[in-house]
Amino acid sequence: MSGATHGASWRKLLAIVLQVGVHVGALLPVLWLFVAINRGDLGGDPVKELIHYLGMGTIRLLLLTLLISPLARVLHFGQLNRLRRPLGLWCFVWASLHFSAWLGLDLALDWSLIGSELVQRTYILLGFSAWLILFALAVTSLPALMRKMGKQWKKLHGLLYLVVLLACWHFWWSVKSGWIEPAIYTALALLLLWWRRQAVLRWLKSFR
Ligand code: HEM
Repeated sequence: MSGATHGASWRKLLAIVLQVGVHVGALLPVLWLFVAINRGDLGGDPVKELIHYLGMGTIRLLLLTLLISPLARVLHFGQLNRLRRPLGLWCFVWASLHFSAWLGLDLALDWSLIGSELVQRTYILLGFSAWLILFALAVTSLPALMRKMGKQWKKLHGLLYLVVLLACWHFWWSVKSGWIEPAIYTALALLLLWWRRQAVLRWLKSFR
């Protein structure tokens, strides 16, 4: 086997290992959460802790998703891009769990209260808008739809840039005290958007 072929098969294997790592890394904390809930390990205000844990997990997954394609370019490791779809889908799963914990546990599915919170609390509306976009991205992430939608697919999936900004804004406004943590996450998000500024500009120009 030539050196180049050998290198290519190692990269392929590494990409598969990383894909499995994404699934295990995103699933294990959810399983741990169920165990922690059952054992009563979430402290004095378990619902608040649950929403916090799931919200932080979602924003970290979002940043990781944005990191993939510039990293693949810098490392000349195109197969890394295969992680984008599973990571994006896990973002949606985590955001949905965070959303469901708020709907089901915090507000006990009281629909009139849910409606008034959505209208009165801007940070809730921001989070909900981010979730709606993630929902549209998850539904259209099937490879068959990607081929069918062509250029429209790229336009739609560029909305992930908006999701990350909405998520940071939602984070800033949801915290009652302290600004350092949301500031760090916003700085990381802006850094990642700046790193891939050419792709962001191309996406913005596609609407002209
Ligand atoms: C992409 C979607 C979302 C992301 C990335 C996200 C992220 C976050 C983050 C990082 C926090 C701060 C955690 C903390 O310090 O406690 C948070 C808090 C919160 N989020 Fe979200 N969120 C999203 C969507 C939503 C949605 C759809 C809702 C409900 C409609 C929601 C409701 C809340 C609530 C109630 C809090 C807690 C505020 C408090 O501490 O009282 N989020 N979210």
